[in-house]
Amino acid sequence: KVYTDYFFDEPAYNTHDGGYVPLERLDVPEQPLNIPPLLEPDRETETDTYYTLVAQAGETQILPGAKTKTWGYNTTLLGKTIVFQKGKHIHVTLKNELPELTTFHWHGLNVSGPIVDGGCHAPVYPGETKQIDFTLDQPASTTWLHAHPCPSTAEQVWHGLAGLTIIKDDVEAKLPFPRNYGVDDVPLILQDRRFHEDNQWDYHADYDPDGVQGPTAMINGTVNPYFEVKTQKVRFRILDGANRREWRLHFSDDLEFTQIGSDGGILPAPVRLTKLMLTCAERAEIIVDFGQYHEGDVVTLFSDDMPIVNFRIGKFAPDTQVLPGHLVDIPNPEPTPGLPVKKVVMSGMDEEVMLDGQKFNMQRIDARQKVGDVAIWEITNTNQMDGGMVHPFHMHGCQFLVLSRDGHEPYPNEHGFKDTVGVNPGEVVRIKVWFTLPGVYMYHCHIIEHEDGGMMAQIEAFDPEHPQTYHLMDMDTL
Ligand code: C2O
Ligand code: CU
Ligand code: CU
Repeated sequence: KVYTDYFFDEPAYNTHDGGYVPLERLDVPEQPLNIPPLLEPDRETETDTYYTLVAQAGETQILPGAKTKTWGYNTTLLGKTIVFQKGKHIHVTLKNELPELTTFHWHGLNVSGPIVDGGCHAPVYPGETKQIDFTLDQPASTTWLHAHPCPSTAEQVWHGLAGLTIIKDDVEAKLPFPRNYGVDDVPLILQDRRFHEDNQWDYHADYDPDGVQGPTAMINGTVNPYFEVKTQKVRFRILDGANRREWRLHFSDDLEFTQIGSDGGILPAPVRLTKLMLTCAERAEIIVDFGQYHEGDVVTLFSDDMPIVNFRIGKFAPDTQVLPGHLVDIPNPEPTPGLPVKKVVMSGMDEEVMLDGQKFNMQRIDARQKVGDVAIWEITNTNQMDGGMVHPFHMHGCQFLVLSRDGHEPYPNEHGFKDTVGVNPGEVVRIKVWFTLPGVYMYHCHIIEHEDGGMMAQIEAFDPEHPQTYHLMDMDTL
């Protein structure tokens, strides 16, 4: 079966927003797609890997003419890609060379909160260096790193503080997937920006409390990118790294592709699609088979009706490998008996956005769940279908399973681990949540201006044997 729709509710697409900014084609020459370089470890042993991450300001040649002032991790824009091996003990030196405080949030990693996780309680002040370490115990997946200081996450991400992180494990390594980074295993970080005078970004000029947008698609930091296809099959690790924009992806000729992964890992079975919608912070890994094309052809990736990447088909050897019908086993623990359903309500739009009827407070713990308990969470979006929006619900510190949407099956590509799920207006989405590490973790809408605007709360995952007290920051001590 090949799915040919976007699954989400069409009346809620961002194209219907009052403030929607349609994508426009900038009249600049095509440029090769930037492939973020890999971050080299400082050193590595059998068991441990050491990195230094630097949040830095710089200038990037994005458009012809003046360079754009941008921020990045170990580079001037976005970040170097970090590849983690499951099971290794990772040590990271975090350095802030920016003129303001920042945090380093590992979106999608099951690491302890609130410090290692890098949410708002873990500031690194300008000029400061901090050390964190963690051991990764989660399946191969595509996750990401972004700034998360409250309430300026959105602005810092807009400046460029977002990078890709890839987890590898022995299970994924045995699957017949392309994995030659930058050649047939290619990141696509989807963002949009508005270029003002002298090719500069101006977050405040473009501000919209429902999410900042720009008319120019920027893929891995490249405007009007092309990519040279040198193998018949290419795996794309797609991240919606935009502050607000939804991406409705499809190829020219309605080319079919196969989704093999979601936020938190490989899917239990491949899903064949011609269309894919991503809400903010979601990831999808897909494999595209260019076998029907010939050298010199161009295949285009669109979002809605706007071309965003051109694939120039080169010479490649035929590849007849077929994907197995079963990819990985997804653990599916039974809910802990006797636990009430944990209800979460996302409401409002603009400045009115709230979570459970209130705004985020850094000092308030809104919920508690025992480490190891498996709880059903029920996420409601109270927006009206008419004029409402899809709110992407994200949780730190765990990967969850989507159980149902309004009592029905989740979408066909939601059978793997997720950390972000788009909830349609009026919809009730049930998910299964468990934490493996004690800590304080945020959960929020990932339209980043909604998060900064208070559509966020935090939970303590606790271990009754080892009660802990946490030093929670507040806006004034920041
Ligand atoms: Cu992608 Cu709270 O973060
Ligand atoms: Cu996160
Ligand atoms: Cu929202």
